Amino acid sequence: MEKVVVSIGGSVLVPGKDDAAYIKSLAGMLGSVSKKTVLAVVCGGGKVARYYSKTGGELGGTVDQLDEMGIAVTRINASLLRIALGDTAANGAPTTAGECAGIMGPGKVAVMGGTAPGHTTDAVAAMVAREIGADRIVNASNVDAVYDCDPRTNPGARRMDRMTIKELSDIVYDEHEACKSSVFDPLGCTIAMEEGIDLVMVDGRDLAELENAILGKPVKGTFIDSSRRG
Ligand code: UTP
Repeated sequence: MEKVVVSIGGSVLVPGKDDAAYIKSLAGMLGSVSKKTVLAVVCGGGKVARYYSKTGGELGGTVDQLDEMGIAVTRINASLLRIALGDTAANGAPTTAGECAGIMGPGKVAVMGGTAPGHTTDAVAAMVAREIGADRIVNASNVDAVYDCDPRTNPGARRMDRMTIKELSDIVYDEHEACKSSVFDPLGCTIAMEEGIDLVMVDGRDLAELENAILGKPVKGTFIDSSRRG
């Protein structure tokens, strides 16, 4: 069986509108896919995490304190998905990549949030992927693909069907330098590159698309080739 790790953004999981309906459908899809693929899902924090980070910052919180609050929110979001999965959820709420690897198995979906300060849940997904030797990481966000520049400010932005992980790495490190929010966590990108793990970037609200990405079928989003196969 293939092994896949999904990084799902908080903006996809809990945008604040019809969240329960979406999470229920997501859980149904993940449950059925888990019979064909060994699956872990790492949940992001979304706007609730950003609220705590901003408010904590205004109160003089240290970077580590703000990160710890973000981690707490990602873990609460993971609890929502675990509730929706019911018996299909793997037993436990992992707080490290190793713990997650330990509860993964066919027919069950392992679900977790963040681990430690200093990175985002994209990097956690890459750490779990490294731990289990995953076939691919699927990044489910609220953007449908990687673009050659920001599509919100550049109407002519070109959607990338396919790119190499080196090309993605150049983009995310440039954005990181410019303190811009990135399509994928730079550390996560480095881990995927070092380990030769492919990445697939898809719109997480499109469940058919997300399922295709998990199963390694063609997607409308962006396939990022780690060149593992030559
Ligand atoms: P996210 O993974 O949601 O961060 O974790 P993000 O990518 O900035 O947010 P989205 O994708 O737009 O929703 C939320 C915050 O929690 C902390 C970080 O501060 C992160 O920005 N965090 C999360 C950690 O410090 N360590 C972790 O392992 C995970």
